[in-house]
Amino acid sequence: MRRYRIAVIPGDGIGPEVMSATLPILEAVSETRGDLEFEFITLRAGDGAKEELGEALPKETVREVERCDACLFAAVGRSASEVILPLRQRLDLYANVRPAKIYPNIPALAGKADLVMVRENTEDLYRRVGFRGEDWGVALRIITRRASERIARYAFELARREGRRRVTSVHKANVLDHTDEIFLEACRRVAGDYPEIEYEEMIVDTCAMRLVMTPEHFDVLVTTNMFGDILSDLAAGLVGGLGMAPSGNIGESRAIFEPVHGSAPDIAGRGIANPIATILSAKMMLEWLGEADAARDIERGVVEALERGAPLTPDLGGSAKTWELAEAIRGAILNKPLAQKEF
Ligand code: NAI
Ligand code: MG
Repeated sequence: MRRYRIAVIPGDGIGPEVMSATLPILEAVSETRGDLEFEFITLRAGDGAKEELGEALPKETVREVERCDACLFAAVGRSASEVILPLRQRLDLYANVRPAKIYPNIPALAGKADLVMVRENTEDLYRRVGFRGEDWGVALRIITRRASERIARYAFELARREGRRRVTSVHKANVLDHTDEIFLEACRRVAGDYPEIEYEEMIVDTCAMRLVMTPEHFDVLVTTNMFGDILSDLAAGLVGGLGMAPSGNIGESRAIFEPVHGSAPDIAGRGIANPIATILSAKMMLEWLGEADAARDIERGVVEALERGAPLTPDLGGSAKTWELAEAIRGAILNKPLAQKEF
């Protein structure tokens, strides 16, 4: 029996709603597999924690996240920059991995898309080094060779592991030459170690247009922090919206998995949030833990439920509740015909 201690941060707004839809999915996988178990350690963070405990990211939460095998994080509200940014930096979660894929029967802008955005997660403008006067501000875009090589290598390793054919490096070296030439040099150097994977470079504005017009062109994209933040929401928009966009913040030995979306205060408390982004984040967590079969169970559950016409939440054009969609996925995982249980 393999046991994993999972730090669970429900957070604010729709966070607890999508989290309580996702944990039973992990339990279902544990039940069907029979050889793995999860212990969930629920931790406080976010606006609620700040109000009640005086800090958005209590020390106890950080300690537990460091002690657990992995962390599943739903979403926090206004205090996001006091929670997720320090966690990423403290644990050195340098790779932000954001897949964008079209699932069956999801109303999506793109006809075809199955790409992974690999975003550098520790530097660039997000270091928040800057100054401001009364009427002016300066923010420093920090790019280092070390971080650039590390993220490029992550992207190529991911491409190799997943059998993907192309890595596109996204930059603005034509204007931001001080920084982006370093990023590009790093990508080129790493690309040389992966001759079987096609390597191309694309300027970020061109990339934005081509993602909309020919999303099927893209496979793995690797880019700096800010560009990756914006382009990955664009990619989420192509595949059905934020409710369909999972992510991982991955370091050398620790990782936090979270939907790309925030606490969605406009729909919080109504039980209509789409849980799929969080469910697919849990799938990514299992992959990272080395539980590839269990991860496939979750994705197959999502695909089968959607193929069978699972009730869709309003963001996907339906009128279902969070729990109805989650229950359809859980059912698909649990009710697999015996013959299929093996692979
Ligand atoms: P948001 O992602 O919370 O919402 C944007 C839009 O997408 C809203 O219309 C929302 O209803 C919709 N949406 C998001 N997730 C959905 C889901 N699962 N199902 C259906 N619809 C969904 O972004 P917004 O409104 O810019 O920020 C709201 C709060 O979230 C802010 O306080 C922000 O600081 C925080 N935030 C936290 C993040 C995190 O925890 N990592 C990331 C982004 C924002
Ligand atoms: Mg964002």
